[in-house]
Amino acid sequence: MIHASTHENIFEASTILQNGGIVAVATETVYGLAGSIYRPEAITEIFRKKGRPQDNPLIVHVSSFEEAHRLTTEEGRAVIQEIGSSFWPGPLTLVVPCSAEVPFAVTAGLDTVAVRMPSSSILLDLIRATGSPLAAPSANVSGRPSPTRAEHVVEDLGTDVYILDGGACEHGIESTVIRVLDGRIHLLRPGAITSHELEKLGYGAVVRSDASRESNVVRSPGTKYRHYAPEAEVLLCRTTDEARTVLENDTSSSIALVPEDYIGEFSAYAVRILSSVTLFDELRRADSLQTQSIVVLCDESVMAQEALYNRLLKAAGKDGKGL
Ligand code: TXA
Ligand code: MG
Repeated sequence: MIHASTHENIFEASTILQNGGIVAVATETVYGLAGSIYRPEAITEIFRKKGRPQDNPLIVHVSSFEEAHRLTTEEGRAVIQEIGSSFWPGPLTLVVPCSAEVPFAVTAGLDTVAVRMPSSSILLDLIRATGSPLAAPSANVSGRPSPTRAEHVVEDLGTDVYILDGGACEHGIESTVIRVLDGRIHLLRPGAITSHELEKLGYGAVVRSDASRESNVVRSPGTKYRHYAPEAEVLLCRTTDEARTVLENDTSSSIALVPEDYIGEFSAYAVRILSSVTLFDELRRADSLQTQSIVVLCDESVMAQEALYNRLLKAAGKDGKGL
């Protein structure tokens, strides 16, 4: 059920978490499905509820640097101190060596842990009230677009999950996931913090570990969806001409998703604004209208937005690899 994020409800949710239950919660990025890292039954339930592969580790959310430090080693503490202090609380996840404090199920057996201190006051208050770091993947069924509103969580996980509502998420796209190796920042998942922002830290050029840059934008042949995927087919077009041709030849119900500047040019079609903040909401909206194809204008300006472009490639089934 959806609950307003009042003091009382955050307290009620923390009691559920202390008792080994799970709670969906708004964050500044997307909604998360949270459980105490110290309650193995909660971690098992998170994987079950999402249909998540067991070998995909969870992000641990903390409310203080001290809490983060306990999860990692001296090496990790240095990274957290240097990079966390610039971006936390906020949408940056740091992958660091894990300490014995972190249960095996959370890291899926890896010797590293992903840690994030969110800026969402709802999640911060929930962590503090629970008295434990909270493991929380996005609160969608695995493979579906991440939820950016409480209603999306209900769509995927049903009404029996306790949901702390925070309205529409500020970023609408997940946190950036990075790891520091040999003095360089490796980008494991582009997200709300850009590479450009990370490069200001003085670690040199960010090393890209995701495959987005190598992929070509071509129309989706309807490859099997893997990630962030709506039911509708997602077709990426490089130019307005190409997008219009596709829309005109398409006899099925389709919508156009274009950057705000092009809305006027596409007014003859069912058109919506393309932006990283609203992408997941638009993909889900298209499904609720039983749209058969989503024609996306993915020009240079869109490709320059690394997180948006990455999610579009995955939604179109172009890049099932990586995160
Ligand atoms: O914005 C976000 O990050 C949201 C909110 C709820 O905080 N969470 C989120 O979690 O997107 P999730 O589980 O959907 O994505 C976390 C990603 C996964 O792709 C996972 O593979 C990766 O982080 N990850 C987790 N632990 C890792 C580790 N130790 N090493 C490398 N990647 C890791
Ligand atoms: Mg996810």
